[in-house]
Amino acid sequence: MRILALDQGTTSTRGLVADENGRAEIVHAVRHEQHFPEADRVEHDPQELLANLRAVIEAAGEVEAIALSNQGESCLAWDAMTGEPLSPVIVWQDRRTEATLAGVAGQAEMVRARTGLPLDPYFSAAKLGWLCDNNRRVQQAHRAGRLRLGTTDAFFLQHLTGEARTDVTTASRTSLMSLETGQWDPELCKLFGVPIECLPEIRPTVADFGCIGEVPVTAAVVDQQAALYGHGCRAPGDAKITFGTGAFALAVTGETRPPEDDSGLLPTVAWQVGETTTFAVDGGVHAAGAAVEWAMRIGLLDGPEALGAFEAPAAIDRGLAFVPALAGLAAPHWDGSAAGLFIGMTGATTRQDMAQALIEGVALRAAEVIARMGPVARLSMDGGLTRSAYLCQFLADVTGAEIVLPGTEELTALGAAQLAALGLGGTLPSPAPRAVVTPRPCDRAARLARFSDAVSRARGWRS
Ligand code: G3P
Repeated sequence: MRILALDQGTTSTRGLVADENGRAEIVHAVRHEQHFPEADRVEHDPQELLANLRAVIEAAGEVEAIALSNQGESCLAWDAMTGEPLSPVIVWQDRRTEATLAGVAGQAEMVRARTGLPLDPYFSAAKLGWLCDNNRRVQQAHRAGRLRLGTTDAFFLQHLTGEARTDVTTASRTSLMSLETGQWDPELCKLFGVPIECLPEIRPTVADFGCIGEVPVTAAVVDQQAALYGHGCRAPGDAKITFGTGAFALAVTGETRPPEDDSGLLPTVAWQVGETTTFAVDGGVHAAGAAVEWAMRIGLLDGPEALGAFEAPAAIDRGLAFVPALAGLAAPHWDGSAAGLFIGMTGATTRQDMAQALIEGVALRAAEVIARMGPVARLSMDGGLTRSAYLCQFLADVTGAEIVLPGTEELTALGAAQLAALGLGGTLPSPAPRAVVTPRPCDRAARLARFSDAVSRARGWRS
C-alpha cells in the first residue's frame, strides 16, 4: 500500500509517500511566496499553491490513495464553474477583519456556544464575509450564481478531482459550522455575511473525496489535526505541539464535544472516521517560528543554530522576558491589542541575552497554553524549532512534561497518510521516538508568574 500525503502548509507544499513497511519519504517539497500587501494582511497566490500540489503529485509516481492536509483557516473565493480564483488566499494570520468583528461583538457568546470559537480574525468566517463585502469579482460571481467560497482544501479538490469538498476538521475552524451537527449553520452564515449555498459539502475526515486521475483521495484534514494523528495521539489526554510558523498544541479529549469552559482553548474536531467523531482542544501561539524569522530579519539572530544552546542561566530567571505577540495574542488570551515586548533590559544586557529571552518567550507562551490543558505528563513535539535543544529542555522544565521527539519530522504528512490508509482498510506504522527530554527541577511557578506579568504589560498596547 503506497499512499501519497499532500501537505499544503503555510510556508511550503510537501509530498510524502508512505507504505505499510514503515518507509516514508518526501518526494517533493517547495516553498511559496508570502505576500504582505498591508501591515495586517497575509496572502498566498492560489494558482501557485495549486501548481506546487500538481508538481508533488507528478513526483510521487504510482500510489494507491491520496491524503490532503491543509492550513486550517486560510480561505478564498473562486468561480464554481471554471475554478478560476476570484481572490487571493487570505491566510490564517491575516487580521484585516478586526473592525468587522468588533461590529458583531454582541454575538460573541452565541458564536462560542455553537462553534466553540471566540470572535477572532484568525477564523475563516469574517474573511469570507470580507470578500463578499469588498471584492467586486466575488460580488459579480454571486449575482451570476457561480460563486464558491471555502477553505483551500475545497479549492484544491475542485481542481484536482472536479468536486469542491471539505472535511469536518477544516469546517470546524471556519466559525460557520455547528459543532453539534457538523453542518454549516445558517444563522452563523447570515451573521458573517457568507451565502451558505456557496460553501462546499462537509464530509468526514476519512471519506470519498473523489479521484485524482485514477487514484482515490480518501482523507482530507487540517494539518494540525493530521500531526496530532501522526504523533499517535488517540486517547484522551494525549497531546502534541508543533512548532512551525505558529506553535499549535492539541490534546485529544474523547468522543463527545469538550464542555464549555473559560480555559481560552478551542474545542475542535480532531477527526471523523465513519460515524465516530473524536474531539480535541487546541491552543495556538501565532508567532513561534515567525518570531525567530523576525529576529533573523532584524539581525538579532545570525541563524536558527544560534538558539541551540546558551551558557548563561535562563533569561527569565534574570528578569529578562520576551512576549512574542507580533500579531496579538491567541490562546488563551485572544487579545489582538497585545504587542511584541522585550522587558527587563539593563546596560549589561547582550544580544545573546535577547536571543535567549526570545526563544524562552516562545516556550513560555506554549507553556501557558499547555497549563490550560490539565495535567500533561508527556508531550509529543515536532516542527523546525525542535532543532533547538535549548527550547526542548526549557519547554520540558516549564511544563513539567516529558517531551517526546518523534522518529520523523514529517508528522503532518505521515498523520494524513495514516488517515488515508484507514480509507483503504489498512494502517501505516509510526517510527519509534528518537529522544525523550526529561524535565529538570526549576522554580516553574516563579517563571510562569514573571512571564504572565510581562504578558499583562504587552496587552492593550495597540488599542
Ligand atoms: O491554524 C493554522 C495552521 O493550520 C497552520 O499550520 O503548519 O501550515 O503553519 P501550518
